[in-house]
Amino acid sequence: MLKGKKILLTVGPTREYLDPVRFITNESSGKMGFAIAEELHKENAELIIVCGPVNIQPKVPDRNIKKITTALEMYEECQKHFSDVDIAIFTAAVADYRPKHQANSKIKKDGNIATVEFVKNPDIAAEFGKIKMPHQISVGFALETDNVIENAQEKLTKKGFDMIVINSPNHGEGFGYDTNKVSILINGQNIKDYPLKSKSEVAKDIVDKIKSLL
Ligand code: C5P
Repeated sequence: MLKGKKILLTVGPTREYLDPVRFITNESSGKMGFAIAEELHKENAELIIVCGPVNIQPKVPDRNIKKITTALEMYEECQKHFSDVDIAIFTAAVADYRPKHQANSKIKKDGNIATVEFVKNPDIAAEFGKIKMPHQISVGFALETDNVIENAQEKLTKKGFDMIVINSPNHGEGFGYDTNKVSILINGQNIKDYPLKSKSEVAKDIVDKIKSLL
């Protein structure tokens, strides 16, 4: 069913540099994104994985992986593929902001920097949502703690997702761990809660749900 389908995945964190050796990032390990990629690879989908700096050896061919570092680079790489893909899956933890200025050389500690000014990064999923064709499917992720359904529904609408995977922020689940506990909301359907599972089992549930959208 997914054989030959072109699928874009964003995976991992991004890094936003203050100077050549210092950056702001987050805890994303890329494990969930690559677990989904591996599941899709087994189904013979054609993958384009745009991936930030991660420390794992995925079981997908290297030629399918485009390595980037910053959110702007992730956006530029994704833009090259937006119009071609059947499905886009946004698992990356993209930094919402980047420092307005990046110093060309290492900032000295006596350099008198008291504050850092930030500017907003593009929202890659939302940009895809704006230009998405009716046959294209968009899948997003969200970490929600309160008003889960309302917030997820709002994100789904705002970013043009057909389906959103809601992660739990609790200990032993999500960022960096090998397990995850998710709920899946498909546009116009009731939310479905899943139990705590390994990330590869969660990936299978997510891929099954994506197949149900085709
Ligand atoms: O708004 P929030 O960060 O919770 O949205 C999460 C979803 O949006 C994820 O699917 C994430 O990959 C995507 N996203 C993005 N570009 C951003 C921020 C989030 O693609 N700059």
